[in-house]
Amino acid sequence: MSDLFQKIRENKGPLGKWANKAEGYFVFPELKGKISNLMEFNGNEVVMWSVNDYLGLANDKEVLQFDKDAIKEYGIAYPMGGRMMTGETSYHLEFESKLAEFVGKEKALLLNFGYQGILSVIDALVNKNDVIVYDRDSHACIIDGVRLHMGKRFAFKNNDIESIEMNLKRANKIVEKTGGGILVISEGVFGMRGQQGILKEIVALKKKYDFKFLIDDAHGFGTLGDIGNGAGFEQGCQDGVDVYFATFT
Ligand SMILES: Cc1ncc(COP(=O)(O)O)c(C=O)c1O
Repeated sequence: MSDLFQKIRENKGPLGKWANKAEGYFVFPELKGKISNLMEFNGNEVVMWSVNDYLGLANDKEVLQFDKDAIKEYGIAYPMGGRMMTGETSYHLEFESKLAEFVGKEKALLLNFGYQGILSVIDALVNKNDVIVYDRDSHACIIDGVRLHMGKRFAFKNNDIESIEMNLKRANKIVEKTGGGILVISEGVFGMRGQQGILKEIVALKKKYDFKFLIDDAHGFGTLGDIGNGAGFEQGCQDGVDVYFATFT
């Protein structure tokens, strides 16, 4: 399978050539059984590395009971529409206010998906006059979000402070002309290798450069910080993180 994976990545062959091979394996794998570290795939029991249940909350008795009680009271059709139309409830607002407090920020906004969430956050934060400076080992959703950007973007070497600073200098030259701002993007914890982003060092660069800092802490939220409030708290620099993004894994 790893040969096939390589070929798919290299994109050799006509468009769609690998589609039937990828489907059911790399994409849309059909899993059976309870969410767990052992699940059934293609008739075999396999070790599951990819479900989003690091904290083991999926089968937590208290969480399951809470789910049951909520369904009993409201049904699963609630709240009857997309959030912008008819889906806003006091529960969303209450939850957002608790989340904001938990991560030490003024406001929080709940989004439906991690992947599309960060994509739209990046898109909402910048316009063509702005420059994005981002870690080149960022998760695909950040890369895709950055690709939507109409202005300049510079990738820095993973966690490399010299490369960050060099790219901040390049970005500075551009925004001096466009009148825009600089958005730096990194991750709290890089999902592939598990190392933390050098958030503290990046925040320290704010003394020399004017930029806003967005982190995607999909893997640090719930696992780092004294109470699980993330990599910014773990490194003692959450105040310097302007936009904190996280997913519930
Ligand atoms: C850093 C990061 N951000 C966002 C996501 C996307 O989250 P979701 O899979 O919930 O859409 C992931 C998924 O692994 C991720 O690693």
